[in-house]
Amino acid sequence: MRKNVSLPVLTPDGAPWDQQPKWRRDFPIDVPEDNYVARRDFTKFMVLTSFAFVVGQGWIGMLNTLRRGRKFESRRIAAVGDIPVGTAVSFNYPGPHDACLLVRTAEDTFLAYGSKCTHLSCAVLPDVAAGVFRCPCHHGFFELTTGRPLAGPPRRPLPRILIASRDGQLYAEGVEERTT
Ligand code: FES
Repeated sequence: MRKNVSLPVLTPDGAPWDQQPKWRRDFPIDVPEDNYVARRDFTKFMVLTSFAFVVGQGWIGMLNTLRRGRKFESRRIAAVGDIPVGTAVSFNYPGPHDACLLVRTAEDTFLAYGSKCTHLSCAVLPDVAAGVFRCPCHHGFFELTTGRPLAGPPRRPLPRILIASRDGQLYAEGVEERTT
């Protein structure tokens, strides 16, 4: 518990109070008392911080469990013939604000990922010739074939969009969230 001290004992620089600036004399602070943290306060802080950490981890775990059990609808993205090899189209999936990219890297190879950078959510850009997605915000790079981070600040891969091809049309059919 904090003691009531009318006159501070020490100044921050150790000089007497009449040599301190006016603002400090007007608002004197007892430096040793101000720096004093009781064991009980410290314990309280540690218990509350640990509790908040446990609640946060539980919340993240619960969201991941809910996401894993989520059912996704099948949604048409584009016709195969509309995407030349070496190009990409953007689409939204599973929600209207979930931006994604579908890239055709070869005649029969289509890859799709969420296009929000896993660092701070900037939009990544495909560079098919270089085999990467680039994030212009902080020079992050992701591997085109896997969506895994290659360089820069991102540490988690881009979410993979599951693709199906039927009757010359490409469909998004699910989202694979990955942590590594
Ligand atoms: S937002 Fe993409 S690297 Fe920072």
